[in-house]
Parts: sequence; C-alpha cells; structure tokens
Amino acid sequence: MMRNVFLAPSLLSADFLDVRSSIASLKGQHDWLHVDVMDGCFVPNITFGPGFVSALRKRYPSEVLDVHLMIEHPERLLEAFLDAGPDYLTVHIEADPHIHRTLSRIRERGAKAGVSINPGTPEELLRPLLPMVDLVLVMSVNPGFGGQSFIPSVMEKTKSLCRWREAGHYSYVVEMDGGIGGGNAAEIALGGCDVLVMGSAVFGAQDPALFLREIKLKVKEAIAHA
Ligand code: DX5
Ligand code: ZN
Repeated sequence: MMRNVFLAPSLLSADFLDVRSSIASLKGQHDWLHVDVMDGCFVPNITFGPGFVSALRKRYPSEVLDVHLMIEHPERLLEAFLDAGPDYLTVHIEADPHIHRTLSRIRERGAKAGVSINPGTPEELLRPLLPMVDLVLVMSVNPGFGGQSFIPSVMEKTKSLCRWREAGHYSYVVEMDGGIGGGNAAEIALGGCDVLVMGSAVFGAQDPALFLREIKLKVKEAIAHA
C-alpha cells in the first residue's frame, strides 16, 4: 500500500501582518498548518501565544492545526493551549521534566499528543514515551528560526523511530522540521518521515500552492519507485 506523506507549511514564515493571505496562497494544497510557538527562553525567539491558535481555530475550523511548543515548562500554559483547540500539541522532551504527565494530559483533553527532540538529544530518551504519543517531531535544525540548513545526521533518528514503531506496534507518525525544501523533501520522506514541515521553502516560493503540488508529486514518485 502507498504510504501517505503530509505537508505542513509553517506559519513562522507567513506574513505576520496578513496571515490569512498567506494561508489563502496555499490554495488548499497543504495537509496541515504548523504553528511554531516560541517563548524567548527555550529558544532565542518569540512568536505566537494561545490567543493566536484560538483565532486560527475559529477562522479555520477544519484545518489540521499542528502546534509545536518550543517553550520551557509547557505545563504552565498547557490548559490555555488545549483550550485553543489544536489537533496536535507537541512539547519538547528537553523542556519538561514531567513530560509523561504533560503528554497524558494532552490526550485526556482530546488532542493528539506529540513529543519533539532537538538535534543534540539522543532518541533513546524517547523510548519510554513512545506508547503514549501520536506524533514524534524530529528537529532537523536547532529550533528558533526559519531558513536554517538541514542537519542530515538526524535521519538516523527517523530510522530508529520507524524500527521501534514496528517492533512495538505503536501508532505515532514521524514528523521532520527544519531546512526542508525542494532539494531534499523526497529523500526525507523516503527515509521514513510521514509529515514534512516547511516554512521558508513554501512561503518564500513564488507560488506556494504550485510549490506544494510539485513537492507532493516528487514525494509520490520517490515512494512509488522505492
Ligand atoms: C524552527 C521551527 C520550524 C521552522 C522551519 O524552529 O520549528 O517549524 O518554521 O522553517 P524552515 O522550513 O524555514 O527551516
Ligand atoms: Zn516547528
């Protein structure tokens, strides 16, 4: 059976003064919308709060909102982000000493739970959490900014995660985030990733919708010929 790969444009690279036009420029060629929440502490940048996610949810009731929390102690803001109505809510393993509790709470509130891991963190740390997550987000740049270069060594993490998923009969999807574009998307999908986040490549394209269509085709062909 043909494997599905989802494309998730990151609003970090959208026009902050006209996010609705940025979303409209995708012309429905995307699968999810990725929302990068940064606190100026876990990462050296500040972006959106729960009010932004809530406004997105109201305006786009049927979009899949994939919310990536790059914040220290996510439990402090967890209820506010859950109230905002994300589909996926992802927290960093490096940011939360009680991540088991946080992930349980996300599922308890009816959202899908994700755990993310920085390039410098070994994936073995994820193992106790794998039965309780719907998504594992592998960072392929050090988070904080769009437009950075892809770190190829993180593909090893994808391999481990696919292997562990099969062996443990888990059901999470593997998402990759950072430095993905036309030159490497197909290869990353071939490496086992189910969801590709793309910020600058999508919103920096002349025609974001056309760009997404081209990526989809490339990914589909690569998987079909694998
Ligand atoms: C990085 C963010 C990414 C970012 C990716 O901290 O988590 O989601 O938007 O941007 P690009 O695709 O430009 O590397
Ligand atoms: Zn992200």
